[in-house]
Amino acid sequence: MSDTAAVSLGLLHDYVEYDNAADSFLDDVLKGLAQSQKKLSSKYFYDERGSQLFDDICELPEYYPTRTEAGLLEAHAAEFAGLIGANASVVEFGSGSSTKIRILLDALETPAAYIPVDISRQHLLESAKALAGAYPDLPVVPIAADYTQPFDLPEVADEAARIGFFPGSTIGNFTRDAAVDFLRAAATDLGADNGLLIGVDLRKDEGVLHAAYNDAAGVTAEFNLNVLHRVNVELGGDFDLDAFTHDARWVEDKGRIEMHLVSDRDQKVRVNGHSFDFAAGESIHTEDSHKYAIDEFQALAAQAGWRAHRHWTDSDDLFSLHYLRVA
Ligand code: AVI
Repeated sequence: MSDTAAVSLGLLHDYVEYDNAADSFLDDVLKGLAQSQKKLSSKYFYDERGSQLFDDICELPEYYPTRTEAGLLEAHAAEFAGLIGANASVVEFGSGSSTKIRILLDALETPAAYIPVDISRQHLLESAKALAGAYPDLPVVPIAADYTQPFDLPEVADEAARIGFFPGSTIGNFTRDAAVDFLRAAATDLGADNGLLIGVDLRKDEGVLHAAYNDAAGVTAEFNLNVLHRVNVELGGDFDLDAFTHDARWVEDKGRIEMHLVSDRDQKVRVNGHSFDFAAGESIHTEDSHKYAIDEFQALAAQAGWRAHRHWTDSDDLFSLHYLRVA
């Protein structure tokens, strides 16, 4: 982890930046494309364009998670506020556009601070500024960091509790082992007696899942292909984006949607002086999105030192919210 830089940004209180990315983009890409099942990490989707495309996905009619989770947050906000109590600071992991947090902040009694943590620096700062403008009495301390790697949380004056907020089922994008590691680190960062409000997408009918990740307008396809565009622009790659096709498939035994980019033909691709052969039909695996039954997720959280306190689901059993306490 590098030194941190705290910068004052007008409306915002402190701004802290960590360069804690474990591997460089180039190293990861070269390693990933050299494997027999070619891979690129889904964390590289989120440059400025990718973050915007993800926001567009959240508005799609087929993509139920965002609106279902927002509905759950709205329906139960008063209950969360009662569980969390007054003067709590809220740490949001992977805050993105910081939209859902408003539902929680509106319900909480005198929150002590809002601490959004996100890898996409520009998006983070814009969202944090907008949020600080809307909540002028609330200290907003954005942290630009990869939240899957260690980083320090700031001291907050008069803080009665420290609550983690991890909406959107981003936990589903981690392997099971990585999810346990993240949850264990979050329990340590947040400290004893504290809680985590986390959104988790539920296992469900395959048709609903297939439509959500293969939308008719092709926004998810563009989001997926954006990672190849990034390799071309940032790493001097020569991927032909028209020669790869987006494919999202449900893998029953792994309980997850896998996103792939499938090569349309035999081809050779060069990245930074290295060349990679693709056979027609061969894919790059770009994302996993795990879906968990309630008890399955509770068992995973227990492995990481969390006790299930309460959970909520919508009437169609599409999505779940869990409030966990450090055990
Ligand atoms: C961010 N994450 C929870 C999304 C998901 O549903 O797994 C990313 C995404 N991938 C395709 N569509 C949305």
